[in-house]
Amino acid sequence: MNDQKYLDFLAKLGISSAHPGGFPLTKALLDSIKPNAAEHVLDVGCGTGETSVYLAKHFKCNVVAVDKHPAMIEHAKKRAAWEQAPITLLQADVEHLPLSSEMFDKVIAESVTVFTNIEQTLQEYYRVLKPKGCLLDIEMTSDYKLRPEEIAEIKRVYGVHNVLTTEEWVEQLQQTGFKEVKVYNGLDFLQSMTELPSVPAIELSQGFDAEAFEIWLEHIKTMEKYQALNYRIYMARS
Ligand SMILES: C[S@@+](CC[C@H](N)C(=O)[O-])C[C@H]1O[C@@H](n2cnc3c(N)ncnc32)[C@H](O)[C@@H]1O
Repeated sequence: MNDQKYLDFLAKLGISSAHPGGFPLTKALLDSIKPNAAEHVLDVGCGTGETSVYLAKHFKCNVVAVDKHPAMIEHAKKRAAWEQAPITLLQADVEHLPLSSEMFDKVIAESVTVFTNIEQTLQEYYRVLKPKGCLLDIEMTSDYKLRPEEIAEIKRVYGVHNVLTTEEWVEQLQQTGFKEVKVYNGLDFLQSMTELPSVPAIELSQGFDAEAFEIWLEHIKTMEKYQALNYRIYMARS
C-alpha cells in the first residue's frame, strides 16, 4: 500500500491551495494575524507555494517554505521564480525540521500536520517558534469520534496519521505546550473573505494518469460517505 498516494496525486495535479477553504480563506486568516515585514514566517508543507509567495509579496515578511515532496518543491520553485518572490525553499520533513530553535514568529500549516506523526510535528512547530510565537494550522477534523474501522478507512484513502476531533486537536496542542488555543471554522472568516472559495488552480505534472483519476474519485466518495469529516482552524501561542 502506498501511504502517499493521495499526496502524490495532489503533487501530480500541481494543485494550489490544496486545503479546505482554499486561498480566499488563507488571505482572510493571514489578514487576521498580519505578519509584519520584520517577522520570520515558516510555511510548513507549503505545496505549490501559493501561501508562501503571497506572504513574501503582500506582507513583505521573511519566508521559509518547507515541503518533503520533490514535485511540490519544483512547483513552488517555479512559482517563486515567476513571481520574483524572495522565499527560501527547503525540501525537508516537518517531523524533523533542519532549522534552529526559536527562529520564527509565525508557523503556518495548511492541511499538513494530519499527514504526519501529529505529536512529533507539533513539537517541531513549538521548537522552531519564538516564545509567544503564533501557530496557525488548518486541519482535517471530525465532527465526532469515528469508529476505529472508519478511521482506518480514512487513513487508507488519505494516508493521514489519525482522524482527530476538535477536542483531541486542542488536547494535543496543549500537551505540546501551546497556550491560548483558539478554534474557528471557515464560516467565522467568511465575512472577511474578499472572494468566495472557488476551484483551485492546477498545473498538471507529467505522468498524470488514469490512476490519479481513481484517487480523485475515491476522495469524492469518501467525502460523501463521511459527512463528519470537516476541518477546523487552530490558532495558538508558543
Ligand atoms: C494537502 S497538501 C497542502 C499543501 C499546501 N499547504 C496548500 O495548502 O496548498 C499537504 C502538503 O503537505 C506536505 N507534507 C506532508 N507530509 C509532510 C512532511 N512530513 N514534511 C513536509 N511536508 C509534508 C505534502 O507534500 C503536501 O504538499
